[in-house]
Amino acid sequence: MSRIVAVSGAGFRPYEVVIGPNLIEAIGQWPELRPGRAVAVVSDQTVFGLHGERVMAGLEASGARVHAVQVPPGEASKSFGTLEQVLDALLGHGLDRSSLVVALGGGVIGDLAGLAAALFMRGIDFIQVPTTLLAQVDSSVGGKTAIDTPRGKNLVGAFHQPRRVVADTGVLRTLPDRQLRSGWAEMLKHGLLADAAYFDVLAAIGDPVGVDDTALAEAIEQSVRIKAAVVGADEREAGQRALLNLGHTFGHALEAELGFDESLLTHGEAVALGCVLAFGYSAGEGLCAEAEVERVATAMQAAGLPTRLSDVGAFKADALLDRMADDKKAEGGRLTLVLARRIGEAFVARDVEAARVRAFLKAAGAT
Ligand code: NAD
Ligand code: GLY
Repeated sequence: MSRIVAVSGAGFRPYEVVIGPNLIEAIGQWPELRPGRAVAVVSDQTVFGLHGERVMAGLEASGARVHAVQVPPGEASKSFGTLEQVLDALLGHGLDRSSLVVALGGGVIGDLAGLAAALFMRGIDFIQVPTTLLAQVDSSVGGKTAIDTPRGKNLVGAFHQPRRVVADTGVLRTLPDRQLRSGWAEMLKHGLLADAAYFDVLAAIGDPVGVDDTALAEAIEQSVRIKAAVVGADEREAGQRALLNLGHTFGHALEAELGFDESLLTHGEAVALGCVLAFGYSAGEGLCAEAEVERVATAMQAAGLPTRLSDVGAFKADALLDRMADDKKAEGGRLTLVLARRIGEAFVARDVEAARVRAFLKAAGAT
């Protein structure tokens, strides 16, 4: 059975997120696939090796002319160089303004291929086929596309909404456990920022590894509903969309200090620890109850995610603060943090005093 979540907002054409098993084989059924339409499947070599053949066959069943463009796996592919290679491949395969890009992969591919689709001939259609849990619940929905530059992550990009998101839950079977848990962190984040009952459901499951397919699909659907509601209300992040950054300012600082080395800390792990820190800071400021921090940490820990700085490494408070101020979510040198009143209710706090955050980080184990 597949589930459908509609994404709509004032500034963009509505689209559907389709969630369920065996969707890849049937991908040619969707109206975006037409006989003769030129389609480029942009993927990374790992994902294409595992699932590419079935996607190509599914697309070709529609009568479309399908080409594959593969890039190396990993964050390094979100670069100007790889973007240029992808755009050149689209031109080389003869795509035109009526063509379609299919992004088959995790968030790296969704961001890269989405940006290529936004730029190619001033913007062509694309479909997201997310293959990591993180991409299914987060990055494939909402239209943010980007590459990194040596000066920072996601600094060059565009808002370009997909025409459809096809989240085949079957592809998650080949995903390494650590990646599954990283996606789970973003799902817990959705509960923490907007839906306490959903957080309780995830907390009761504990470890996502081994969760049954129906419970996983239900949870993916609920996360997508939360993200779709936020994006629908504030596509360009004028306000409410910033809530999705819960745990990200602390998390980004930790990732940056570790050189964005995914073997040391994945993005989802950084978000998990970042959420515990955001709740911890909120409790320290008297904004939320201390017991809430414990509940957040217990749920993250049950999912095999880090909850203390010492789980991840040794950090200097000043270095973390510098990174937090560098973060593009900090405006005009002031620190902007997403804080919480309780589980299910986050808010954006501007003008947070750096000295108070420094003291909190030291109490949390930074030197
Ligand atoms: P990723 O795309 O690098 O995928 C992680 C790894 O898993 C890769 O090595 C990939 O080859 C492999 N993989 C993917 N699917 C697989 C499968 N089904 N089976 C086996 N291996 C598989 O990383 P990610 O965690 O999906 O995404 C992280 C990226 O997403 C970051 O660049 C981040 O900035 C971006 N992001 C974007 C948004 C947004 O709104 N656009 C939101 C969150 C994150
Ligand atoms: N992942 C943050 C956003 O989509 O806005």
